[in-house]
Amino acid sequence: MRKPIIAVSMAIIAIYFINACTGKTSHQEKTSTPVVSTVEDKVKTGERLVAALDCEICHSPKKMGPQGPEIIPELRFGGHQSNMPLPPADEKILKSGWVLFAPDFTSFIGPWGQSYAANISSDSTGIGLWTEDQFKKVIKEGKFMGLENTRPILPPMPWAAYKNLTDDEISAVFAFLKSTKPVYNIVPEAKIAAPPKM
Ligand code: HEC
Repeated sequence: MRKPIIAVSMAIIAIYFINACTGKTSHQEKTSTPVVSTVEDKVKTGERLVAALDCEICHSPKKMGPQGPEIIPELRFGGHQSNMPLPPADEKILKSGWVLFAPDFTSFIGPWGQSYAANISSDSTGIGLWTEDQFKKVIKEGKFMGLENTRPILPPMPWAAYKNLTDDEISAVFAFLKSTKPVYNIVPEAKIAAPPKM
């Protein structure tokens, strides 16, 4: 029983020395292996990031359930629904310093005016026709539609926090959103009171 154990130990020691002499350790071999990342992996990473960053709290319409707002599965990422009009805002509440959130968190009124969560589904009324550069410009620079000469993105879209994502992470989020079910919905135009300073 002892001999085979000694033989195996000798073999391990020999491999260690050969690796040491050629400057190759098993650790180096591991890190130099190219990472094979499929489109599927990228979409999965994007899905995980979108869940962790909770884009749906604002961008997916909801109905009220016993435990609070519940996402409507067929409208996921569709933004504030143009066919679900909101009642007029109570000016008195606003003047006393409060901000208002629609019950499904897709529309918001505050000192900036009234904003509506955008359609970020893969439909052409969402981000379906966008380039990745446009999407990056929204996240990194807070530019509406990700175009150069547009207005700043309004609150409460937390782009100033999301700009800390890496280019690869933003690319993965975009790939996931492009893979979502298209939701046709033209979100109403924001009413701008005082555009935030950039
Ligand atoms: C707290 C609410 C909130 C969260 C969370 C949120 N958004 Fe937004 N988002 C908004 C609002 C409101 C707008 C529209 C702002 C405007 O009109 O200027 C918006 C706009 C956008 C736009 C720009 C659309 C356009 O037409 O210019 C993109 C893209 C976007 N959000 C992606 C995301 C992604 C991706 C996430 C998660 C990583 C996310 N948002 C999380 C509220 C939110």
